[in-house]
This record gives sequence, C-alpha cells and structure tokens, in this order.
Amino acid sequence: MLVLGIETSCDESAASLLEISSSGKFQVLSEAVSSQIDLHAAYGGVVPELAAREHMRNVPLVLRQVLTQAHKDVSEIELIAVTSGPGLKGCLLVGVDFARGLSLRLGCPLLGVNHLEGHLWAWKIPSALGEAGSMELAAENFLCLLVSGGHTELVQVAGLGKYQVCARTVDDAAGEAFDKSAALLEIAYPGGAQLAAMADALPLESSRSTELRRLLPRVMRDTEGFSFSGLKTAVGLLIDRHRQQYSVSELAWAIQSAIVDSLVLKLEREIERSGIRRVVVSGGVAANRSLRAAISKVPGVSLSAAHPRHCTDNASMIALVGAARYQMWGGSDLAGVRARWPLEHMFSGSCRKE
Ligand code: KG4
Ligand code: ZN
Repeated sequence: MLVLGIETSCDESAASLLEISSSGKFQVLSEAVSSQIDLHAAYGGVVPELAAREHMRNVPLVLRQVLTQAHKDVSEIELIAVTSGPGLKGCLLVGVDFARGLSLRLGCPLLGVNHLEGHLWAWKIPSALGEAGSMELAAENFLCLLVSGGHTELVQVAGLGKYQVCARTVDDAAGEAFDKSAALLEIAYPGGAQLAAMADALPLESSRSTELRRLLPRVMRDTEGFSFSGLKTAVGLLIDRHRQQYSVSELAWAIQSAIVDSLVLKLEREIERSGIRRVVVSGGVAANRSLRAAISKVPGVSLSAAHPRHCTDNASMIALVGAARYQMWGGSDLAGVRARWPLEHMFSGSCRKE
C-alpha cells in the first residue's frame, strides 16, 4: 500500500511516501521538507499568515518532489495521512484542504493525524530511505520525553493510542528555551540548533565547565511539570552581567547544560516513579547531542531516538502513524483541524474523541 503523508502544522511544508508491505513492514520511499526559516527570521518568530501562504505554494511542490524521487504517479497513492492538529490553525487548514481535495480526486481514504503522536513514534522510522521498519506499534511500552518548539511532555506509552501524560510544561517549551536564549545571545532565529552547535564545539577543561555549570539555576526541582520561564529570566541576567567575562560559546554551553540537566532530572524522577527503563526522546530538541548523551548515561536506561531529520518536523512520522491507525482500525477519519489536541484525547480505535 502506498501512503502519502502531509505535514503543515507550523513553518515546515513536508511530504513523504511510505510503502507498506503485507508482512507488517514499511519503508520510506521518499521524503521532502520545505522550511520557511529564512522568511520568518526577519520577524524573530513564525508569522502565521505568512506561514499559511507559504504552505499553499510549497505543498504541491513537495508532493511533486516525493513522487518524482520515488518514480510514482499520483494515481498510485492509496491512503493519505495529514496533520490535523495541534498547530497553527491557518497552516493546518492548508494541508488538510489539500489532502481532502486529493483524496476526493483519487477516491482514497484520508486520516487526520495528531502531530504529537507523530513525534512520539518517529523513532520507528529507519534512518535510511528504502530500509525496512516495523509497523508493530501496538505492543510497545516506553517512557517518551517529547521536547519540541511548542511542547515539552513526559508521556507513558502503552501502545498506539494509549498515552498517559505524566508532566508537561506550564509555560515555555524546551525548544523555546533554546531559541529564546539564543536570541538573547543574538544568534539568528530559530537559534536552538546553532546554540547547541556552538556549545558542542567548545573545548572545555573540567574546572571551567564546573564554573560554567554554576552560572545558571537548575530550574523546576520542586515544581510539578516543566517550566522554563525562570531560566529565561536567569539567562537574561547572566548575559547582562557576564557578557565581558565569558565568550558566547561558553554562555551557550552554560545554557545548554542548564536546560539538559533540568530535563534529565524530571525524566530520572519519572523513571524512578514508574519503573519504566525503556526511554524514547523525540521532537526537535531530541536532535540535541548533549541531551541524548545525558539520557543514555542514566543507569539502566535503554534509549531510542529518531534520526535527527525525523526529530524535527517531517511527514514520514505522519504517514507512519496514519498507516498504523488505518491498518488497526481502518476507515476515513478527519474531524477538521484542532489548534489544541492533547495526547490524552487520543485513544486506540479512533482519533475522533475530544
Ligand atoms: O519538533 P520541531 O521541529 O517543531 C515543533 O513541533 O515545534 O522542533 C523545533 C524546535 C526548535 O525550537 C529548535 O530550535 C529545536 O527544536 N531544535 C534544537 C536542536 N535542533 C532543533 N534544540 C536544541 N538542540 C538542537 N540540536
Ligand atoms: Zn513538531
């Protein structure tokens, strides 16, 4: 079965073609992401109206790109999976309307997929095109640290559709903490990945790293859930006071280690509480090397993470979840777009429940 995935929830227009075999395996035949970073950089953040307009232009282009790459004709598509929430409403509408039109023309089923559920399962996608992956999502049990630009959540997963959110952020997401800190360091939007690259490239003696570690508080020790607004204030003060004393790379290192330590602290507590040692890290911030290294050092933990290009927004994760849901429960399911769509509202059997 040939499955098309479409993703337009924020500032990336993405398409992907998955081939599903009757033996429960799948492979990504082709995938494309058209990023709008350059467009929004001038504004220091995503401008929803501009993003939606760009999606209108880019969705047909990424579709053509994946069809050409996979040597497929549009008429061969047998199922369409499209992100229908959560995200920017105008952006979601562009992807959903396009997918709806295409499914009507092709007479094929259409499924609305939860973007967060896509991130949750992205680690199942093989890193290389054409490599076989398993569609068996029903029996997986793990603890997922979902860290993206819009969300920071710790989720207990007991199979497809069976999610219990143990903690979520009460203010900024981890990706925002990276991006806002980067902006304070005058790194161009969205500076998270660049801040991380500067920190990672820093040759550091251990005495210096001990000193840098002390510059910022380890936030959220005594709170329920995640919170990064206190860290943002502390980063602002640190930069104001110590800009002369430390290089930008050293400040980036101090910020990265504070964010990573805070995330790992919460994760460790949940591992202890739940007894679950199988950990998945997903979402854009899961591309962070220092975070992955810190989690894999937690005693007894077995860590799985997606390839960095499947950590950030992509359509293969949407196609995979759509195909898995279709195989298990069938049917067309698209109940309009949802700017908010918490994972607890998903359940096995349908994605319609509000
Ligand atoms: O999952 P994603 O692509 O989009 C959302 O659904 O939000 O996540 C994007 C976020 C941005 O905040 C970006 O700065 C951050 O992920 N990010 C990183 C890294 N790569 C992307 N943050 C830290 N280190 C990285 N290597
Ligand atoms: Zn995302």
